[in-house]
Amino acid sequence: MKKLPKRILFVSSESRPFASTGGLADVAEALPNELNQMGVKIDRIMPLYRKVHEGQKRGGYELQRSTHTLQIPMGSETIQTEIYFTELHGTLTYFVNCEEFFDRTELYALPNREYSDNFNRFLFFQKAVVALIDALGQPYEVLHLNDWQTGMIPLLLEKGIYGTGRGGHEKTLYTIHNLAYQGLYPATNLYKTNLPGNFISQYPDLEYYGQLNLMKAGIAGATRVNTVSPTYAEEIRTEKFGCGLEGVLSNLAHPVIGIVNGVDTKAWNPETDPALPANYRLKSLSGKERCKQALVEEAGLTYKKETPLFVMISRLVDQKGITVIGQAMEQLMGLPLQFILLGSGQEIYHKWIQDWNQRWPEKFKGILGYDSELSHRMEAGADFFFMPSEFEPCGLNQLYSLRYGTIPVVNPTGGLKDTVTDVRQNPAHGTGLLMNSYTPEALLNCIQEGISLFHHKQQFRQVRQRGMAQDVTWTRTAQEYLDLYRDLI
Ligand code: ADP
Ligand code: GLC
Repeated sequence: MKKLPKRILFVSSESRPFASTGGLADVAEALPNELNQMGVKIDRIMPLYRKVHEGQKRGGYELQRSTHTLQIPMGSETIQTEIYFTELHGTLTYFVNCEEFFDRTELYALPNREYSDNFNRFLFFQKAVVALIDALGQPYEVLHLNDWQTGMIPLLLEKGIYGTGRGGHEKTLYTIHNLAYQGLYPATNLYKTNLPGNFISQYPDLEYYGQLNLMKAGIAGATRVNTVSPTYAEEIRTEKFGCGLEGVLSNLAHPVIGIVNGVDTKAWNPETDPALPANYRLKSLSGKERCKQALVEEAGLTYKKETPLFVMISRLVDQKGITVIGQAMEQLMGLPLQFILLGSGQEIYHKWIQDWNQRWPEKFKGILGYDSELSHRMEAGADFFFMPSEFEPCGLNQLYSLRYGTIPVVNPTGGLKDTVTDVRQNPAHGTGLLMNSYTPEALLNCIQEGISLFHHKQQFRQVRQRGMAQDVTWTRTAQEYLDLYRDLI
């Protein structure tokens, strides 16, 4: 039997309940908690954003200041950081403090404008991670890195934060959650890394057509690389989905493997969810109808039991297929259904949604913003959930939908393909509706099919219950990560 690593550090730019913009935060919360419960010793580290301070009461945690104050070189400058920590649900989390970089309204961007110093912010974070490991005096055997904000860590482990050499004895697992965000910056920033030499060409792992690419550095530098579904693991080796890194991804010594994310069943359980007006379970769905009525009324629409309710909760970015919804909207609104959407992101989509609110006030309600509790009420109250993503590394909302008896309508790409089975192609095992192409026609076709299914009550209930019975828990996922950690050492 392979040995278990003694200590693991999970490095992420966000984690619930502290600060979150998307699915990475759900994973960063659930996976370490699950592993600690399984007896693996895994700590977590992330930046100390303003939101982490603000969330203390609501999140049920209290920040404590550690004795570690670290000096982090950024080129010729030195910036000081204090390390805070808290222990929640069995996991110790460290926070890297730096008011200049992290005491801001948002994590990465204001609407339509990325913070211009994100390279500095996350280089600083990664250096602080390495500096803290050294200061703790108790080594970590494995570092689990996530997305571009942690991609330089393999290089920093080897060269050290002053570039004078460190050894890099830790093993690293680099998980790609979304290849579309790569952390691409001008090579003129190289001096801030303190790496020896002035030329980006000396660092082929980091170099991408003359620029710094932190995603590439993570992929090329880590001991092993994985992503969040088997289908996405294959897709990213192609030109269509590889975002320019398909070559690097195809030539790794160990092929990228895909591990589907799980659902945190403590947070997402319709039987106990405190955010819901009524709880329900697989064998007794009556509470779900009460959730639907409450949600429709909360949205200011008129509740009609016989009208199917479609919802969508999403970052409003191109990836998520809002354009396909936009192209289908006129016809969609002609169908006997209601549609509630919650999201925030690109300004253009905010405008679309404001426009739809005015045009179809009886059938559509778009809510702009980020609201976790409302997202629970929507998963519970809906009959169908839209996820027509152009690409989707894993996707979590379709998993929450399955668990809440809400039928996902998805474009079968990445994790959506791996987790939802089409009712039409597989009537005995179907759990959702799959678009046969990334087009408004295919979406409308699924919606019509959904409406018809909604009125065949027995079949509709069976599909819902099948989804609710699907095993989407973290136990299986955590076990797969554990096997990977074992392989690493
Ligand atoms: P991604 O990480 O690409 O945004 P996922 O489906 O993996 O997509 O995860 C999205 C997560 O973020 C889910 O937990 C979802 O409920 C949440 N989320 C996204 N937008 C909002 C919003 N506007 N309000 C509340 N939760 C949201
Ligand atoms: C990314 C992906 C999403 C995935 C999440 C967590 O944000 O876009 O598909 O579920 O990471 O892995």
